[in-house]
Amino acid sequence: MGAVVAFCSQTGSAKRYADWLAEELGCQAVPLERIEAAVADADLVVLCSWFHAASLKGAKRFQAYMAAHGEKHYAVVAVGATPMPCELWPAGEHEEAFRRSFPAEAYPDLPWCYCQGGFHFERLGALDKIMMRIYFKMLESEVRKGDQRSATALAQMREGYDGCERSHLEPLVAELRTRGWA
Ligand SMILES: Cc1cc2nc3c(=O)[nH]c(=O)nc-3n(C[C@H](O)[C@H](O)[C@H](O)COP(=O)(O)O)c2cc1C
Repeated sequence: MGAVVAFCSQTGSAKRYADWLAEELGCQAVPLERIEAAVADADLVVLCSWFHAASLKGAKRFQAYMAAHGEKHYAVVAVGATPMPCELWPAGEHEEAFRRSFPAEAYPDLPWCYCQGGFHFERLGALDKIMMRIYFKMLESEVRKGDQRSATALAQMREGYDGCERSHLEPLVAELRTRGWA
């Protein structure tokens, strides 16, 4: 029995979670592009990726792999900018975002967890910098209307932050162990 964590990461947060998870599972973390070669012998494959404009990067590629290898077990770590579930950001919103990429009808029994990542503007690619500048403008207009969440998000993103914590992976690791997959 073996596992592999396949990751997609632009600024390092999802890669950190992938490395932590690989350590927990005693396995390798490899870039998603190498999934075909790297996971041939694994019976558990975990995607660790980040939300980009409301969808999880690499989800389609991972799903194609899942469809072609129905004999394996799968799980997902979804990394995003929003805080861990709390009063301002209820868990239902993370679930909704995740289900846009992995709809419950198609993936009813896929273990997953949300982990807060970080935000590092200077590490973004050119196109993402443009997208984020537009997003900042949208947030500014919400702040002017008195929206508290937008004010918090804008302040944190402007400053840059690192919200990665290894403990955010605990629920998923526990579930994988309960299922006997890890
Ligand atoms: C263009 C862009 C769009 C993003 N869209 C979302 C989003 O829809 N939801 C979210 O929670 N985070 C979003 N984020 C934040 C990233 O998911 C977050 O910064 C994550 O930690 C990046 O992972 P990485 O460090 O592995 O690249 C977005 C970031 C960028 C640059």
